[in-house]
Amino acid sequence: MTAAGNRPMIDMSTQLGRTPIPSPVLTASGCAAAGRELEPFLDLTALGAVVTKSVLLRPRSGRPTPRMAETPSGMLNSIGLQGPGIDAFLATDLPWLASRGVRAMVSIAGGSVEEYAELAARLRGARGMVALEVNISCPNVESRGEVFACDPGAAAAVLAAVCSATPGVPVYAKLSPDVTDIVSIARACVEAGADGLSVINTLLGLVIDTDTLRPVLAAETGGLSGPAIRPVAVRCVWQIHKALPETPILGMGGIMTGHDALQFILAGARAVSVGTAVFGDPSAPERVHHELARALANKGFARLSDAVGYAHRAASSTDVHQVTA
Ligand SMILES: Cc1cc2nc3c(=O)[nH]c(=O)nc-3n(C[C@H](O)[C@H](O)[C@H](O)COP(=O)(O)O)c2cc1C
Repeated sequence: MTAAGNRPMIDMSTQLGRTPIPSPVLTASGCAAAGRELEPFLDLTALGAVVTKSVLLRPRSGRPTPRMAETPSGMLNSIGLQGPGIDAFLATDLPWLASRGVRAMVSIAGGSVEEYAELAARLRGARGMVALEVNISCPNVESRGEVFACDPGAAAAVLAAVCSATPGVPVYAKLSPDVTDIVSIARACVEAGADGLSVINTLLGLVIDTDTLRPVLAAETGGLSGPAIRPVAVRCVWQIHKALPETPILGMGGIMTGHDALQFILAGARAVSVGTAVFGDPSAPERVHHELARALANKGFARLSDAVGYAHRAASSTDVHQVTA
């Protein structure tokens, strides 16, 4: 069962949409920029893909500082969608990834359906891009700032526009947990043409400094990430997989170890993204890959794909996996 270096021989291959990838572990958008910073710490080509920071049509400087706050088992950020815009991204970041043979899942964000469609059109045929992730946790400037991901109609409109602008590229909708019924949003995105779902983005949170008696973040609220949100994320993956078992899910939220990743796989994710963990351990995605392989081997799985959604099976199943190593 083990190869040289005592690594388990598990088939870890999976797909992004219909695109095959050798590892189910990806980075998470916004936690590794466009991958460059991680290069000294791991082999980026061995990852499923690098998910790039959400890119907008135009450069943006992000939110005012302070924009990071520590929380129990997590962190709160209000970076905002800081970045150089699509022109610079296409001129530097994406070619850099392509030149090194790194698969890129490109994350896009916008303030209107037209902006998303234009971004998708600009990326059509871009070298190195294996999939698109559509960050819909953005305010719709044409609808009183209502977040796209919180309304099935608005989410569907974005996905339909992006999918028709990028035929042949797997398109994942990135969902927000800050909704009453995440399955209804997931279903709307899939019916609009999404090939997969990225689950979940951060939860909206607030930390107040009891010395200054004011919110810690200049923007007041921020996105909560890290282990504190893991049970919420696993629940979302579970509910969506139960309702839409054929839809590929990229799961994320507080994955620090291979066992954390295994929870997402057992709940129904076909791949996972590692975000906040990278700030403390830049090699975390590679480590999580190996720990996940070992955890699967220990439970008697020969292939990652056999474990996808396994926790949904009836407990009386005769196919119980026992610890084998
Ligand atoms: C500092 C920071 C920046 C982020 N930026 C983005 C972003 O640009 N686009 C996006 O879709 N998600 C963004 N996220 C959310 C992550 O991609 C991920 O969905 C979330 O943090 C949960 O995973 P984690 O707990 O492993 O970090 C960001 C998260 C953090 C912590």
